[in-house]
Amino acid sequence: MRYGHRITHIAAKSEFLLSDVLRIGIAGLGTVGGGVIRLLSEQEDLLTQRCGRALAVTAISARDRNKPRDFDMPDATWYDDAVALAQADNVDVVVELIGGEDGPARATVETALGCGKHVVTANKALLAVHGGALAELAEKVDRTLCYEAAVCGGIPVIKAMREGLAANRFERIYGILNGTCNYILTKMEEDGAEFAAVLAEAQQLGYAEADPSFDIGGIDAAHKLTLLASLAYGCQVQFGDVFIEGIEDLTASDIRFARELGYRIKLLGLARRTDTGIERRVHPCLVPLRTPIAEVNGVTNAVVAVGNYAGQTMFVGPGAGAEPTASSVIADIVDIARGLAMPPFATPYSKLEEAAARPMDLWQGAYYVRLTVLDQPGSMAGITAVMAEHSVSIDSIIQRGRAPGAAVPVVMLTHKTEEASMTRVLREITALEPVTERPRVIRIERF
Ligand SMILES: NC(=O)c1ccc[n+]([C@@H]2O[C@H](COP(=O)([O-])OP(=O)(O)OC[C@H]3O[C@@H](n4cnc5c(N)ncnc54)[C@H](OP(=O)(O)O)[C@@H]3O)[C@@H](O)[C@H]2O)c1
Repeated sequence: MRYGHRITHIAAKSEFLLSDVLRIGIAGLGTVGGGVIRLLSEQEDLLTQRCGRALAVTAISARDRNKPRDFDMPDATWYDDAVALAQADNVDVVVELIGGEDGPARATVETALGCGKHVVTANKALLAVHGGALAELAEKVDRTLCYEAAVCGGIPVIKAMREGLAANRFERIYGILNGTCNYILTKMEEDGAEFAAVLAEAQQLGYAEADPSFDIGGIDAAHKLTLLASLAYGCQVQFGDVFIEGIEDLTASDIRFARELGYRIKLLGLARRTDTGIERRVHPCLVPLRTPIAEVNGVTNAVVAVGNYAGQTMFVGPGAGAEPTASSVIADIVDIARGLAMPPFATPYSKLEEAAARPMDLWQGAYYVRLTVLDQPGSMAGITAVMAEHSVSIDSIIQRGRAPGAAVPVVMLTHKTEEASMTRVLREITALEPVTERPRVIRIERF
């Protein structure tokens, strides 16, 4: 596919295109689909002006035709089967808002591209797993595959990385990629509450799904990181290579200790090119208080890109919700209406590199370690001996109060060390008799 060649083509044919209507088929009429339909209707004049042509919803599909919806249904053909919508003659662009990495979402997108239609999707799970094959298919049939809404909802970070920062090599990219986790961590800090209580409250408020495992387990953030890493480093879409830890094991005491030590805990997604492969990881991190990323609280998302010419840029905004996500979906539709085409992952598919994943064992940094240790003579001597044996040195330590014979928390920050050494230390410390619980370990990121 030849990209970026259509602007002059459009200028030459503007008379024709002004009278042309871009026909949109929307598969999925839930939170995002409803938002898209409302936005298209409420901002119709603005969009027609900006696109130089009208946008019209000509086909719609969802699971249940009779379900009450909180928006006016457009005057469009209804399809019970989203794949049939993807084949319909009266559709130029298929907008997939069903969700899920396989099933009807994948079938709809594959069929749409196969039928020569452009595709817009908000589906990070689908793209993180099948994005490479779908990008290849889109290029083969000379159609676009756009997914601005798939990463950080309303933040236009895909366009920023693919277009605005196209001249840069990226030293690193990192961010708060999941609003549910950030909300939970913020509330745990504000209220001093435990994870389970805050999660239940988040579910009641609609900030967390009934099945929250993808969010709290770090999978959703890893889907988004997979896409960002591919854009930034020209590597294939390799979800399986992301190292993932979620926030389920964090406690209110970890958050309190971190703060006391001058840090805040955030679930970050981080990617970096190294001599030993592309590092892609999602896990809780201690980040220094008063750094910009530490100040991003609640459901808000943020992405920081460090480019070799632009320097550090940071994008902050709503990572989900009907309106912000619809804004990003429509931005992709506007590009298509304007005739703009871009390789989905910034580099043409055939040029994407199959990059090795950097083994996590090679990661180097400082660690927060919380141990539960019997308060008895010699307990700490055994622990520090293990650490010394593996050359892991202690930067600071909190050991407060006395409770002879009872278990007490001991919190340490280490100096920079290698993950492989830390793994060995933890294995040996866990086996020590005075250590009564599995140690809690959180990596420290200093930006
Ligand atoms: N929600 C957000 O804030 C947000 C933000 C960024 C990205 N996304 C992504 O956007 C996508 C949609 O999310 P959502 O929150 O809008 O989901 P949702 O509210 O659950 O809506 C899903 C829609 O898909 C329809 N559907 C399910 N199975 C179908 C099938 N076999 N054929 C046709 N339609 C089918 C459902 O139909 P019924 O309505 O009839 O049940 C529903 O309208 C997902 O990929 C999600 O990851 C969401």
